[in-house]
Amino acid sequence: MAIQISPSILSADFAHLADEAAAVADSADWLHVDVMDNHFVPNLTLGLPIVEALHKAATLPLDCHLMIEDPDRWAPAYAEAGAGSVTIHAEAARAPVRTLRSIRSQGARAGLALNPATPIEPYADLLPELDMLLLMTVEPGFGGQKFLDVVLPKIRRTRELIRDREAAVWLQVDGGVSEETIERCAEAGADVFVAGSAVYGAQDPAGAVEALRARAERAAG
Ligand code: DX5
Ligand code: ZN
Repeated sequence: MAIQISPSILSADFAHLADEAAAVADSADWLHVDVMDNHFVPNLTLGLPIVEALHKAATLPLDCHLMIEDPDRWAPAYAEAGAGSVTIHAEAARAPVRTLRSIRSQGARAGLALNPATPIEPYADLLPELDMLLLMTVEPGFGGQKFLDVVLPKIRRTRELIRDREAAVWLQVDGGVSEETIERCAEAGADVFVAGSAVYGAQDPAGAVEALRARAERAAG
């Protein structure tokens, strides 16, 4: 299980996104892009034109997390815009299988995200349709929130499920991931870690990525 770090540009300086992406280009594995529509979540961030521009300006692959209504309509366009991974929310998708297949057919990795209160069990049979499961460890919508320890048992159950089904699915956590909480997530079985404020709130974002990776690797054993 390889540990990967995906810094979230939600906590970066939006006026200098290319520089902010470059700051972690040599230390991170992905660049996490939070798309919010002020309907699925009570916040508004960015959409397709910025993802297209970032794809041209950044060297890291884009990990697009769509916190939007009607992902069935919009998700394939993010893959087409150059995202390396596109994640839709289970709570918002009406035809997740069709949408996940369409993301894959555009050449991107397909992800399914679950809010803290959404159980994994109803989605167990969808594992073959997925490249990544994202378990939210805060309620989606804002950076800088406190990590929700109540999600840890679900991370453990999901890791067991992935193992039992021998699925090639990455397990991502997003929300409140920091040097203080990342070890708990890694011990529970997460292998891809989104971190916004812990990376872009630090003096040295690249150093913060390295510190997070070291802790996760140690905890994952
Ligand atoms: C929240 C977003 C996260 C956010 C995480 O809804 O999905 O990706 O950027 O920020 P931190 O790491 O500060 O909790
Ligand atoms: Zn996110």
